[in-house]
Amino acid sequence: MRIKDKLFKPFISSSEIQQRVAALSEQVTEAYSGLDPLFIGVLNGAFVFAADLFRNIKTPAEITFVKLASYSGLGSTGNVVTASGLDRDIAGRHVIVVEDIIDTGKTLHTFLPTLLTQSPASVKIASFLWKPEAAQCDIKPDYYCFSIPNAFVVGYGLDYDGYGRNLPELYVLADQ
Ligand code: IMP
Repeated sequence: MRIKDKLFKPFISSSEIQQRVAALSEQVTEAYSGLDPLFIGVLNGAFVFAADLFRNIKTPAEITFVKLASYSGLGSTGNVVTASGLDRDIAGRHVIVVEDIIDTGKTLHTFLPTLLTQSPASVKIASFLWKPEAAQCDIKPDYYCFSIPNAFVVGYGLDYDGYGRNLPELYVLADQ
């Protein structure tokens, strides 16, 4: 499949994704039952995963979003830009930061300390994907759906230059 100037091939099917997300939601529900958790989705990429994860949470919970960005095209710029901030008081709350992917880890490495200054009861990370080989910071997801090799992927919220977020399955760059 072509997106702009790049060719992508199928990687993880929509049914595999839905199964894993449902299983993760169950795990998170069990861990946070009765704790009134606050999910914080990181825009833009996490909106699809955050919606599916949150829809399957079976305990009272809130969700909000922040907009952070450190990527353009196929490479991380390393500059974390906070375009729109947090609109909730997180003091004393059990927070779950929801990401599309942990790649270099730079985004959360910059964002987590600002959350921690606001005295949450706890902060954990739930990421749809994790690329352990790409790590440049000591950031690991507490919950994740798939650990993947260090390759560029699109679909299920992840984009190539703005496109591909609407694909229900995951694709990987064909010439990697
Ligand atoms: P970080 O390098 O862990 O800070 O990841 C920053 C952001 O880069 C992620 O939230 C994604 O939006 C984006 N990103 C990282 N790897 C990929 C990829 O393979 N495809 C699409 N976006 C990616």
